[in-house]
Order: sequence, then C-alpha cells, then structure tokens
Amino acid sequence: MRRAKHVTEALLCCVTLLVIHRSSDSIRVIGGSMTVVQGEDVDLSCRLLETDEELEQITWQKRTLEEPENHNFLLIYPSGVTDFISPNGLENRVQFFGNQTEKIGSIRITAARLLDEGTFTCVFSVFPSGVYSIEIPLTVLVPPVMSVTVDVPPVIGENEVVLASCLAAGAKPQAEVRWNTDAFGSLVRTVTNSTQHANGTTTVVSHLLGVPTRAANQQQVPCVVNQSALATERTLAYTININYPPQTVNITLSEGTPATVFLCVADSNPKAIYTWTRVGQPWPQSAVRAEGNTLHLISLSSELNGLYSCEASNPYGRATGSQYVHVTSYTSAACWVLLVIIFLIVAAAAAGLVWYWWKNGKCLWSSFMDDHQFEAQSQVEEEEAEI
Ligand SMILES: *[C@@H]1O[C@H](CO)[C@@H](O)[C@H](O)[C@H]1NC(C)=O
Ligand SMILES: *[C@@H]1O[C@H](CO)[C@@H](O)[C@H](O)[C@H]1NC(C)=O
Ligand SMILES: *[C@@H]1O[C@H](CO)[C@@H](O)[C@H](O)[C@H]1NC(C)=O
Ligand SMILES: *[C@@H]1O[C@H](CO)[C@@H](O)[C@H](O)[C@H]1NC(C)=O
Ligand SMILES: *[C@@H]1O[C@H](CO)[C@@H](O)[C@H](O)[C@H]1NC(C)=O
Repeated sequence: MRRAKHVTEALLCCVTLLVIHRSSDSIRVIGGSMTVVQGEDVDLSCRLLETDEELEQITWQKRTLEEPENHNFLLIYPSGVTDFISPNGLENRVQFFGNQTEKIGSIRITAARLLDEGTFTCVFSVFPSGVYSIEIPLTVLVPPVMSVTVDVPPVIGENEVVLASCLAAGAKPQAEVRWNTDAFGSLVRTVTNSTQHANGTTTVVSHLLGVPTRAANQQQVPCVVNQSALATERTLAYTININYPPQTVNITLSEGTPATVFLCVADSNPKAIYTWTRVGQPWPQSAVRAEGNTLHLISLSSELNGLYSCEASNPYGRATGSQYVHVTSYTSAACWVLLVIIFLIVAAAAAGLVWYWWKNGKCLWSSFMDDHQFEAQSQVEEEEAEI
C-alpha cells in the first residue's frame, strides 16, 4: 500500500500536490463484514475504487481461528478465468459474480456452513501501483434446534420435580430460553443450564420445576426461544402432563337404546383400563356383556341379578366401584299384572255365566214345573176319568 503510494506520487510529480494527494489516497477497496444464517447464501462484496490501472488479478484468501494463516482459495484473472486453489470446504459453493472490467471482486457462498466462518480477504493486484486489499469477516449464525421434553414423566406427589425441559440446542450465538408461566404464578420456578460445544455453538436447557399436583395437569406453559438466527422469537406450545392413578370410580346408568347399559367412569391419567367382574357368582354369559367401561344387560332376566364390580387401573394404581343389578322390575311385574288381569277376566266371565244360567235356568224350571204340574194334573184328571 505504502509502496503503491510512492509509485503514484512519483508518476504524478508534475501535477499539483493537492491532486497527487487526492488521487493516491482515494485508491481503495470497499467491502464490509457479513453475517449469514447457516444454510443460506451470502455475498462477499469488494470493489477497487478510484483507479484506471490495469488489473492483473483478484485473489481471495481466508483464515480462521484454527488456521490463522491467510491462504488463497480463489484466483480471478482479467480474462475471466477463475482458479480454485485450496477449496477447504468451499468447493462448488463459491462463485465469482463480480466484473473484472469494473474491478469488482465479489463472490457468493451458497448454503453457508459453520466452518465457513472466518476472515476473508479480497486482494486486487493492479499494475503498476501494486496490491490493495480489504478484510471481510464472515459470521455464521446457527439457529437452535428446539424442543420441549420430559425425561421422567411427572407423577402426582408432594415434592418439587422437573415438570418439563425446554431445549435450544447447538445455537450460535447462545439462545435465550424462558417459560411463560402466567398460568401458574409463583407455583413454579425455572432453572437454566447451558453447555458450550467445541464448534462454537451452545445448548441451553431451561427446566420448569414445580410440585406435580392434579391441578397442574393439562396447564399450558409455552416455552419462548429467542436468538438472532431466528426471524422472530419462537413459542413452543406445551401442555403439562401429570400422571395419577384412578381416583373415585363412578358407575351410572346410561339411559340408552336398545339395552340397558351401565357406564363406569374414573378420573385418571393416563386413561384407565376397565375390568368388570361379578362378585361371588359366575359370569352370566348370555345375559351380560362387558365392553371396556360399559356393562350391557342383554336379556333382562333374573339370571343376571347380583353385584358387579368395575376396576379401573393404570400404571400408577387402581380403584374399584360396584353396582347391584336386580331385575324384578319390568318382566315379572308385567307377568303378575297379566295374571291378575286374566284371573279377573276369567272370574268375571264365570260370574256372568252363573248369573245368566241362574236367571234363565229358573224360568225354564218353573215352566217345566208348570208343564209337569199340568201334565200331572191332567194325568190325575185322566186317571180320575179312567176311574
Ligand atoms: C462488466 O462491466 C462492463 C463495463 O461496465 C460491461 O460492459 C460488461 O458487460 C460487464 N460484464 C459482465 C459480465 O457483467
Ligand atoms: C446444570 O448443570 C450443572 C453442571 O453441569 C449440573 O450440576 C446441574 O445439575 C444442572 N442443573 C439442572 C437443573 O440440570
Ligand atoms: C456443534 O457441536 C455439537 C456438539 O458436538 C453438535 O451437536 C452440533 O451438531 C454441532 N453443530 C454444527 C453446526 O456443526
Ligand atoms: C430477540 O432477539 C433479538 C436479537 O437477539 C432482539 O433484538 C429482540 O429484541 C429479542 N426479542 C425479544 C422479544 O426479546
Ligand atoms: C363421580 O361422582 C362425584 C359425585 O357425583 C363427582 O363429584 C365426580 O366428579 C365424579 N367423578 C367422575 C370421574 O365422573
């Protein structure tokens, strides 16, 4: 740079001092630092200004923390030919999109990787003044891999446990992780831990701690992650899941068609598995059918009368309820009613017959008697007459 200045000054010695200074100071390369999100494309721009000198070559160099020596990876000649020297992971991902005539040396790196991070140098070699360069630091941001996990599913209890963990892994720079615990107030607290990786990324874990109560079950606690590689902060929805054994077991009669159905319901998490049994008696195969938490009475006969018990169980415990089933009800009552009605009908019919017979029978008797009397009389008269 200094040598170039002297050469220029020497060439322009006849011109006024002001002009010499202006033209020599103005030859410069412009470009600036860049930041790219891993996986995206980035343009590294550089341009040589204020010179009409002949371009000999544009050279791109790179150095990193691990390799602090600058080494060339791309040569661009005025003819348009480009030459990759030591691609160091940039092969097939770097393209020149400048213009030699315009002394623009810009390159594009596609699908940026974390390893691309480093300091790039854009070097213009011009004749006769020499070499001008600019350093372009490239920062690669890595967005976090986010998730909400539970290592040990919380079970109802009285001691504080980890209810859930929010993870923002492998991020660069470190992500900001917090829980939105509005639903809980001061009943929960958070503990945040971070781990640095050798490649410059950081994993942050934020644990949500609280007492696993039944009231905490199914509460919404979103985890919010913010980091510069994310366009906007992310909210990971999460619903707390507390496991608890079946509590009380309720058995209700479901007034459905066609058969009579008993419903067994227990509050538990996860959902209970239900088992129906008949207490102290064999299961009446043809009269009753158990299906999950329902008990169907198929034929309403007294065969199914008895005590039935419903056991609800999940991996955390079990609870039992029972129901007495007694079928006098409809069928036998109806039979009795029918029998009584038939009896009454029969009785009424019999009474009617008797009355009819009695009434008409008496008339016949009396007329018969009259006839016979008459006959007897006449017989007597005849006898008398014969006599
Ligand atoms: C480079 O710039 C010159 C002059 O401005 C122009 O004529 C030429 O088309 C450009 N070349 C490319 C490849 O853009
Ligand atoms: C946080 O990290 C430290 C050190 O690795 C560890 O001892 C501690 O148990 C962690 N805390 C939680 C809540 O995971
Ligand atoms: C960085 O290192 C961590 C831990 O070794 C790894 O999980 C992660 O994938 C790495 N990230 C990148 C972008 O290479
Ligand atoms: C998220 O992070 C960005 C950059 O890290 C910051 O500018 C912004 O204010 C943050 N947003 C919130 C809501 O904290
Ligand atoms: C069982 O019945 C009681 C009293 O009616 C009620 O408070 C409770 O919520 C019911 N339980 C279930 C699981 O339906």
